[in-house]
Amino acid sequence: MMFKSSTVALLLVSGAVASPIWAREAKATKTESASKASDTASVYDWSDGWTKDYTVHQSCNATLRHQLVDGLNEAVQLAQHAKEHLLRFGNESEFVTKYFGNGSTSGPIGWYDRIVNADKTGVIFRCDDPDENCATQDAWAGHWRGENATSETVICPLSFEIRRPLSSVCGLGYNVANSKLNTFWATDLMHRILHVPVISESIVDHYAEDYPEALELAKTDPSKSPIDSDTLQYFAIDVYAYDIAAPGVGCTGKVEKATETTDDKAAATTTEAAKECHTHSDGAVHCS
Ligand SMILES: *[C@@H]1O[C@H](CO)[C@@H](O)[C@H](O)[C@H]1NC(C)=O
Ligand SMILES: *[C@@H]1O[C@H](CO)[C@@H](O)[C@H](O)[C@H]1NC(C)=O
Ligand SMILES: *[C@@H]1O[C@H](CO)[C@@H](O)[C@H](O)[C@H]1NC(C)=O
Ligand SMILES: *[C@@H]1O[C@H](CO)[C@@H](O)[C@H](O)[C@H]1NC(C)=O
Repeated sequence: MMFKSSTVALLLVSGAVASPIWAREAKATKTESASKASDTASVYDWSDGWTKDYTVHQSCNATLRHQLVDGLNEAVQLAQHAKEHLLRFGNESEFVTKYFGNGSTSGPIGWYDRIVNADKTGVIFRCDDPDENCATQDAWAGHWRGENATSETVICPLSFEIRRPLSSVCGLGYNVANSKLNTFWATDLMHRILHVPVISESIVDHYAEDYPEALELAKTDPSKSPIDSDTLQYFAIDVYAYDIAAPGVGCTGKVEKATETTDDKAAATTTEAAKECHTHSDGAVHCS
């Protein structure tokens, strides 16, 4: 909570400055020399330039900036809680084995920590439409700029209309198994953040396309689970729901079998929507 509000304040003022939490850490770890040899010599500061905040571009006006800053803070909050659940319970948590199988918890802990604490210098979210995808593509809510600017993400007007805050998790008919990952700002932005090589090191990618596939991956190829974007999002929202939103209850839900009797046209549409705008980290297209 402290992290959340301080990050908002700073982003609103200046876009990208180290947070107060960070300032406190710096003070704690910096060593003051008892006998100062020189007042003028520049002292090496290993932490100089460590930008933990995401930058919201000037193209976002006050309203959009407010929504986006809240959403980014919630993405960080979601990652932070996922990390803490892993640290608290390890593989004794059923959520952990459900999503990460028999793999080490250090993998996902590391990726969530990169979302929270890695240096974000140059990682920018913008509200204009430099690649004209918001204007020309059907129902795009945003996209990673790919080869045009690998650290930049465009958030289209649609996002500002439909994304929900974390306070609504388990409400409005949401459940983890059947609802879309991008229902929330936090999950949607976690997804977009994981497309930025500065964060993903070009290692996190798409190995599962939906909830059943993420669970299957944990059983059959758990070494991929910590580097699967959907798995990281599903685990994070599932444990947020169970630990925070509806404590001890959650809203995992059960996969509702797609009715085999639906006509082919409907099935085709669903498939089309599901795979819409998914390209891997060497390609550019990415939206939802
Ligand atoms: C910001 O932009 C949005 C979308 O164009 C618009 O609806 C809103 O009124 C603007 N807000 C301000 C404060 O200008
Ligand atoms: C859980 O972790 C322990 C080590 O802490 C390990 O011995 C055990 O095999 C793990 N269980 C699973 C299901 O991965
Ligand atoms: C984990 O599970 C996978 C898939 O079942 C298996 O191939 C692998 O050997 C297991 N690893 C360990 C350390 O048990
Ligand atoms: C990159 O820019 C080119 C030229 O404007 C455009 O055609 C392409 O769609 C852009 N890529 C993305 C991912 O937006």
